[in-house]
Amino acid sequence: MLKGKKIILAISASIAAYKSILLLRLLVKQGAEVKVVLTPAAKDFVSPLTLATLSKNEVLVDLANNHSWANHVMLGRWADAMIVAPLSCNTLAKMATGICDNLFMAVYLSATCPVLFAPAMDEDMWIHPSTKNNIKTIQSYGNILIKPGSGELASGLVGEGRMAEPEEIMSSLEAHLLNRQQNDLADKSVLITAGPTHEKLDPVRYIGNHSSGKMGVAIAEECAMRGAKVTLVLGPSGIAIPNNKNINTVLVESADEMYAACNKVFAESHIAIMAAAVADYKPAQISETKIKKKEHELSLQLVKNIDILQTLGTQKTNAQCLVGFALETNNEIENATEKLNNKNADFIVLNSLQQGNIFGAASNTITIIGKNNFIQKFENKSKKLVAKDIIDTILAKYK
Ligand code: CTP
Repeated sequence: MLKGKKIILAISASIAAYKSILLLRLLVKQGAEVKVVLTPAAKDFVSPLTLATLSKNEVLVDLANNHSWANHVMLGRWADAMIVAPLSCNTLAKMATGICDNLFMAVYLSATCPVLFAPAMDEDMWIHPSTKNNIKTIQSYGNILIKPGSGELASGLVGEGRMAEPEEIMSSLEAHLLNRQQNDLADKSVLITAGPTHEKLDPVRYIGNHSSGKMGVAIAEECAMRGAKVTLVLGPSGIAIPNNKNINTVLVESADEMYAACNKVFAESHIAIMAAAVADYKPAQISETKIKKKEHELSLQLVKNIDILQTLGTQKTNAQCLVGFALETNNEIENATEKLNNKNADFIVLNSLQQGNIFGAASNTITIIGKNNFIQKFENKSKKLVAKDIIDTILAKYK
């Protein structure tokens, strides 16, 4: 996603600087070229050697040494974005007033690119009126705040002021660089199902499928980035649980558990997107002991699972938007339209298998089908960009 993007990672003195190492790894993993700038005091919190090794670039701290001068103007112009993470109280005050007493500040003051900043400080410092004023001031210069979260602070106290997690900083950066809409889902609650379900046969076996959960998680992250409060009901998959304060992940195993989790929040949800590959059937009985090998064949009796999408479709109000997925191999549009109508959904996202296997893949080819013969086809894209297309389409029609 960030292939070819040039990023300055600017680190000031705070315990949260240890998270900047993870942020740097994520940036590099996404293909960005990263140059790291430290305030002199930040060296006490994070090692320039580690940062230089991970970024594969020299780490810059001083404006000059005996034999060279760091050209801060060129560095400020080189970057597509500058991320200040963590931003300490002291450096915040300098950014608000323009005090230029180190290389970090010289780069900041000469940066022509967007600057995102992720403050990190104790709660008392965070709520101090001077901090609030300084934040407002640097926002008024066009810098972009990545809000701190609440939790355990370096002081041992619990409160607001924890630097945003590296994953959240990444999604703000991506949003910015890709010109994503931000906050158009503020005040909206979104329910998303993702991953497979496992239907228990006995203590060691289950019926399941290959769904990776990637598509649903990408949609959850897209919605969270756009300001929604997301409930992600996630079936058993190996995918990492999103680390985002706007996403509440509920882990479930079976279709029944998935339905129960959806049922709890559906009435309060503005949008519900059912991306999970729910098993259509479950064993009629769960054996309490391991089923032993038989002489010849073994027959299993299966019963139908609840259809979560269809059930929510019967409860849906006109103010709610319900979205389902369909995976078809033939008569794609016809079958997907049938699902739209049978399940009383507002949209069906049709996954085409014609481009090959989509399970676990990083990209996807979709067509979105809606009421009144609405059909929109999209090119093969990364699941992140597919998530953006889905939300853009829903919002354009739904508003
Ligand atoms: N779905 C659900 N509960 C189920 C089965 C499916 O909520 N018990 C949802 C899925 O999350 C998805 C949509 O319904 O949004 C898929 O519908 P489904 O009829 O299962 O489609 P396919 O899996 O393509 O089924 P079929 O084998 O009938 O084509």
